[in-house]
Amino acid sequence: MELVIHGLLFASIHSLLFTYFANSQAFMEDVKIRFYYDDLVTSYTDYHLNSSIDIVSHPKFELDRPTVLYIHGWLERVDTSESIIAISNAYLQRNEHNVLVLSYEKLALMFYPIVVRNIPRVGKSAAFALLEMFRKGLDISRFHVIGFSLGAHVSSHIARTLRHASYTIPRITGLDPALPLFYQKNTKQLTKKDAKFVDIIHTDGGVFGVKVSAGHADFFPNGGQRPQLRCGRLFEIFDICSHFAAPHYYAESVTAKETIFVATNRLNSSDTAPMGYNCPATASGNYDLVVR
Ligand SMILES: *[C@@H]1O[C@H](CO)[C@@H](O)[C@H](O)[C@H]1NC(C)=O
Ligand SMILES: *[C@@H]1O[C@H](CO)[C@@H](O)[C@H](O)[C@H]1NC(C)=O
Repeated sequence: MELVIHGLLFASIHSLLFTYFANSQAFMEDVKIRFYYDDLVTSYTDYHLNSSIDIVSHPKFELDRPTVLYIHGWLERVDTSESIIAISNAYLQRNEHNVLVLSYEKLALMFYPIVVRNIPRVGKSAAFALLEMFRKGLDISRFHVIGFSLGAHVSSHIARTLRHASYTIPRITGLDPALPLFYQKNTKQLTKKDAKFVDIIHTDGGVFGVKVSAGHADFFPNGGQRPQLRCGRLFEIFDICSHFAAPHYYAESVTAKETIFVATNRLNSSDTAPMGYNCPATASGNYDLVVR
């Protein structure tokens, strides 16, 4: 028993020290873009950011298709992440897009504040990699970035860097953008300034996700707060189900055969818009809906 406790203590001290003193270059070298093709999440090729240009010349990359880039959140590993699997599977099933995932798993597994501090660097490095791809023919006018939790803020930093090179992302979707250490005075996070159209899905507002409106169109399924109706028990302190409901709702909207998740503008009941994949860039304001 004592050995186990010592082992655990050692492991946590080691991880904390590693987190504080690790050369953050190591985190950056681990940032990759994964390109999924065919119809299974098991078919993919990983690219270091310095070889992003090779993605565009992959035989399965189709320049005449729209491209989606998904960015995961804290503590998610690229191979096992629930949100990556849900979203990529949905797009692969739809079979109309080039499907890319930005992975930064070494960093994502670190102590939360350290991850937050490095988010701008991840976004900036990814933006430079994307710039290479745009210059090689990737069509930015059909480029959609989807960021979950901390990934939503990575997308904001990608957008800021691209804008300095005069590229504007047409659409960013924020899936329950992370709240802790964001949306305070002097912090930088996903806002509606980051793309021509920013849509947000709130599912755990006030805990893991931001509660206030942050996009052009903000969707509040089941009030935008925990517990989401599919998540069961009420006072679950360790409920991550509600936070993860955002990527699951989004994935469902990608494969739905008919229009689902129709939401109503809070200030105008004759203004409705579908939440998720089919949300039009004309949607504006706060939208409510019930998702069972
Ligand atoms: C690209 O980056 C990876 C990881 O940092 C590195 O191992 C590799 O040597 C680099 N390749 C080139 C061509 O610079
Ligand atoms: C309410 O929404 C409808 C449908 O989008 C629109 O035609 C109408 O102008 C809106 N009303 C107000 C007061 O904005």
